[in-house]
Amino acid sequence: MKTAVVGLQWGDEGKGKIVTYLSRNYDCVVRYSGGSNAGHTVDYGDFKIVHHLLPSADLKKQKMMYIGPGVVVDLDVLTEEIEQIDQLLPHARSLLRISRQAHVVLPIYKMLDEKIDGSRLSAIGTTRRGIGLSYANRALRCGLRLQDLENPSRAKNFIEELAGIWQIKIDAQEILHELLAKYESIQDLLIDSTNAVRNLKDKDLLFEGTQGVLLDVDVGTYPYVTSTNCSSTGIQSGFAYPVKLDQILGVMKAYTTRVGEGPFPTELTGEEGEKLRRLGGEYGATTGRPRRCGWLDLVLLRYVLELSGCTSLILTKADILSGYEKIPVCVAYKIRGRVIDKLDNLEFVDQVEPVYELFDGWKSLQSVEFERFVAKIEKEIGMRFSHISTGPRVDEIIEI
Ligand code: IMP
Repeated sequence: MKTAVVGLQWGDEGKGKIVTYLSRNYDCVVRYSGGSNAGHTVDYGDFKIVHHLLPSADLKKQKMMYIGPGVVVDLDVLTEEIEQIDQLLPHARSLLRISRQAHVVLPIYKMLDEKIDGSRLSAIGTTRRGIGLSYANRALRCGLRLQDLENPSRAKNFIEELAGIWQIKIDAQEILHELLAKYESIQDLLIDSTNAVRNLKDKDLLFEGTQGVLLDVDVGTYPYVTSTNCSSTGIQSGFAYPVKLDQILGVMKAYTTRVGEGPFPTELTGEEGEKLRRLGGEYGATTGRPRRCGWLDLVLLRYVLELSGCTSLILTKADILSGYEKIPVCVAYKIRGRVIDKLDNLEFVDQVEPVYELFDGWKSLQSVEFERFVAKIEKEIGMRFSHISTGPRVDEIIEI
């Protein structure tokens, strides 16, 4: 069985916990895109782990983890995370494999990320993790791969070349020295993509999406997106094999959040937004930034469902809305005197006015009001929920 889990909004839908829960039925969890811009908090009950680069496999169940060549690797973050899991569960490190062909995030990328975003007419509000620069340099064919660190003098030449291209002054020897120290500590975990595919292609694999489809570089709210195909479309290239998926599970929150800039039709500003942020603990797992919060947007969901190839849905954080008397859900947009409930592209999404339908609130997820909410959403978007998350812990989930 090959399954993908993708976020259907702007990330932070709670995919980490879902992947951890589902991973119990798979041999290996594969990360195929993004880098340490991702932040997945997994609450095991007795401890919590925030994953940035490590796949969110259930560590207690000894599942394999693979970081594919489509991921960009910040060695500082990776080694810190490995130390963290090592202390919690000593066997966990041995379950990890990392593609030698994955690109390395150099410290100068983070500095350039900040400089470039700050020089734009309208900033994107990146995580400053050097993600865009890593993928840009990969495409420009001047990026450094993990395998390049095997030959330090060649790696130094690469770094010097890169500094020349970007016209910045650096101490290549010092950068290399720091990279090598971290690299050597993970060298035993590296594997060629070819070998990884050989070992894994016949196994049960769970592909862990990062961010959400609305941040996908091709179909998201460009330019306010990340630099990769975080939708399921990125899996083949990020795993470096034309894998055939059996199912694509889309994770959606019962409301919407976004970090960084860009259009957000159902955004709540002021006290209402603050209340939702407080109730949902909506602060970035990577940057700590307060997330922008708003109501569920079915027009965007219909658009995303059409493009992501999703086969079923998983609802998260509906428990956060428990206690609201009425819950507005955006069912259509008004734009230039017309009412629409479907989008062909996201070109004018910054100019729409949401049309809301008010749903009766619920006191608990066992209530008839919540059942009605779920049934109505399914009907509106034409897809069934397979799971509903009922709380933050990994085991707080029901299968439908
Ligand atoms: P970058 O990926 O750091 O270049 O940031 C580009 C945009 O994607 C910014 O709006 C970020 O806030 C957003 N972003 C990147 N990673 C995540 C994530 O894991 N969750 C939510 N937003 C993200």
